[in-house]
Amino acid sequence: MNKNAKSVVFSGVQPTGNLHLGNYLGAIKNFVELQKKMECIYCVVDLHAITTFQDPKELKKNILDTTAGFIACGIDFKKSIIFNQSSVSGHAELAWIFNCVSRVGWMSRMTQFKEKAGKNKENASVGLYVYPNLMAADILLYKATHVPVGDDQKQHLELARDIAQKFNNDFKVKDFFPIPEPLIQKKLSRVMSLRDGTKKMSKSEESDYARIDLQDGEDEIVKKIKKAKTDSSPIPSKIDDLKNRPEALNLLNIYSFITDTTMEKTLDKMAGKDFSKFKNELSDVLVATVCPIGKKIKELKKDSKYLLQILQEGANKADLIAQKNVKMVKEIVGFITHQ
Ligand code: TYM
Repeated sequence: MNKNAKSVVFSGVQPTGNLHLGNYLGAIKNFVELQKKMECIYCVVDLHAITTFQDPKELKKNILDTTAGFIACGIDFKKSIIFNQSSVSGHAELAWIFNCVSRVGWMSRMTQFKEKAGKNKENASVGLYVYPNLMAADILLYKATHVPVGDDQKQHLELARDIAQKFNNDFKVKDFFPIPEPLIQKKLSRVMSLRDGTKKMSKSEESDYARIDLQDGEDEIVKKIKKAKTDSSPIPSKIDDLKNRPEALNLLNIYSFITDTTMEKTLDKMAGKDFSKFKNELSDVLVATVCPIGKKIKELKKDSKYLLQILQEGANKADLIAQKNVKMVKEIVGFITHQ
């Protein structure tokens, strides 16, 4: 990376449903930490959301709810920029240019498209196919250098790096776009479903019991953890013995991450216990972490004017940066720009 590039953090979250524990532990918790040391831009990516059909009323509500979630988790909108993607037109403009830089071969390797489109890929939107180009545009529009994400976004980040490099090479503008670094939590890069430890926790899994939503109350959290799939063996003393026990590994990982201890220490403490005991402790730490956030989200949601104002102010700030960079990109590409 160009050593003179200013550090800028960018990340986005889709407003397609309630934020869950995976979003928080895998990404948003890190968004909050990064504010202490870098300039940060956090985006509610509504253009990404419509790659699969969204009910317009629901979408509007979800944009505000996600904004409330950002703030409730600790993102300081006075320090960092919070805005919704569609209110800054530069995202769509740069995405088009990147559609022309990116290669069909690169797109066809994207595993998330294959997962999301499923068997019916002929019927998937074209937007879903080129979604990673829009994601690259989100990041590079602000010349972001660091991108905090969960592990599931790693391949998209690699593509953003390839696009930045190809643009810089094709147009002979060395270092124009920085090559963005993914920031993925080492200890817990992927929170898994509570029903199936081989699948990631996601908004799209049908059963509510598969995930902890940030707005779940104490009773729901306790119930979901009680029902979480485990196996009949007690908790082992060695990490290696968790190899073929994905559900057990997931719950122990979540516990270790939230209590900020190593897995070794958690196993020292829990080895030999059966899961019902451990689940009580896990519920306690989850309730203590999640419930205050959920309460704040619910409070913030009552004041949509306040949330709209935050988004408006964020969009104004983001647009200033975006317009300047889009103009430079247009000049580089050879378009005629006007005052
Ligand atoms: P999205 O909305 O699916 O998820 C938002 C963030 O939460 C992380 N995440 C998880 N982390 C760990 N375990 C899980 N089970 C889990 N589920 C979700 C995601 O990795 C993500 O960091 N394409 C992105 C949004 C996006 C974006 C961007 C991100 C659009 N433009 C530019 C970074 C930079 C997405 O769909 O995230």
